[in-house]
Amino acid sequence: ATTLGASAAEKGRYFGAAIAAPKLGDTTYSAILKREFTSVTPENEMKWDATEPSRGTFNYTAGDRIVAQAQANGQKVRGHTLAWHSQMPAWAQALSGSALRSAMLNHVTQVATHYKGKIYAWDVVNEAFADDGRGSRRNSSLQQTGNDWIEAAFRAARAADPAAKLCYNDYSTDGVNAKSTAVYNMVADFKARGVPIDCVGFQSHLTNNAPSDYQANLQRFANLGVDVQITELDIAGSGQAAAYATVTRACLAVSRCTGITVWGIRDSDSWRTGTNPLLFDAGGAKKAAYTSVLDAL
Ligand code: XIL
Repeated sequence: ATTLGASAAEKGRYFGAAIAAPKLGDTTYSAILKREFTSVTPENEMKWDATEPSRGTFNYTAGDRIVAQAQANGQKVRGHTLAWHSQMPAWAQALSGSALRSAMLNHVTQVATHYKGKIYAWDVVNEAFADDGRGSRRNSSLQQTGNDWIEAAFRAARAADPAAKLCYNDYSTDGVNAKSTAVYNMVADFKARGVPIDCVGFQSHLTNNAPSDYQANLQRFANLGVDVQITELDIAGSGQAAAYATVTRACLAVSRCTGITVWGIRDSDSWRTGTNPLLFDAGGAKKAAYTSVLDAL
């Protein structure tokens, strides 16, 4: 096939992009989005600060716009994200302990209920592990509410939207290392105890290359009985085109790898300013990295 989405579909996968509601009126952006992608992730619009700017007051305007546009284009929606230490509204940053725990669980319930039936997979919890090389939990106000905050969030999400796949999502978990092994152990524990979890997202914000054990890492999670997804792919640096092919082939080689999402469309849309880590240049032209992905699919 001649597009990322159609080629991925031939292999039973989706190919998605993170998108920003304010850019939907940009005709170059929207044309690529509609032509190439079969899934979308709102880059910021479903985060806590966007959806509950003051306690108990919910704003779904921008997220709803993305969902409506995706439905009109026949694209899946990955929900991102229900519980995360970053991009919390100021009022939630001011809470701790049981007050924060109940505010978080109410947030999960309200947002997952609002989007019930419309979300393919939710990143229920994002970035809850530390980068200390020992596989610790990240020391956040959410973590300080108790080590079971992650499973509590997953149970609330399942109750609110039983049909959505529920994912744990993180970065620097793309190869086999202390952090990914800690996530692996959490997922194994959840499966053993019946805590609802369906998928693990690997953000894959990479530079130059993918870890040599990238595919093996995806496979070990899949072997736990969860789907795996590449959720925020972008690759800076010199090995870009080759690394994109490596990641694409790794996903295709793992039967439970259900799809790939790139974190933006054009280089000018990327959060990694100045690194040009995406598949289309600022003018919307296909880069070598694009061809590399398409050839690998
Ligand atoms: C980033 C967005 O791309 C930016 O627009 C925003 O300013 C900050 O967040 N990991 C994640 C994403 O899970 O939510 C982050 O998105 C990038 C890192």
